[in-house]
Amino acid sequence: MEFDPRSIDRLPFHDPDEAARAPAGATPSSRDARLRHLQRVPLFSGFTEGELRRVAELSRIVEAPAGTLVTQIGEPGDSFFVIIDGTVAVRTPVGAGSELRPGDFFGEMSLLDGEPRSATIAAVTDLRLLIVDRSHFWRLLDEAPDLIKRILTILSRRVRHLEQTINAMLHGANPT
Ligand code: CMP
Repeated sequence: MEFDPRSIDRLPFHDPDEAARAPAGATPSSRDARLRHLQRVPLFSGFTEGELRRVAELSRIVEAPAGTLVTQIGEPGDSFFVIIDGTVAVRTPVGAGSELRPGDFFGEMSLLDGEPRSATIAAVTDLRLLIVDRSHFWRLLDEAPDLIKRILTILSRRVRHLEQTINAMLHGANPT
């Protein structure tokens, strides 16, 4: 079963700026903390404060401990993830992919094509993740079309990298 972000309560991250956060997560200090997290994410670079506030409205931030399986290959998937803090390992049907780090995203494929998760993603370290649910994903892309360009660019890089890896596997160390 896929990691259910709604089941994650606060885990042992120490962020003094968030100490005043209320359970509902709606205090001004928590909103400011969320905004500061978003300001660190390159996917949103150049966004105005208003745009970032809209991203914050359509998403939530959760924390998960090292070892958490965030997505599992073959399972249905309903969320898009952006790493704010931490590192995850990627296992695809053709082997391990590159680790993903702060600023990287994953989980877009199942939202785009409705197919099951293409890879298992496991937390190598404790994580802080921005999560956008399926119901908000398309709205976010509609409202921030620049995100589409950025996501497509990364997807293209991942396909290229995968093709090079497969080519190297088929043809040895000197792919042609
Ligand atoms: P999705 O299939 O929804 O869930 C698993 C995610 O892993 C997938 O979306 C991509 O975001 C990510 N992923 C799949 N293959 C790779 C890869 N080769 N390199 C990096 N990330 C990947």
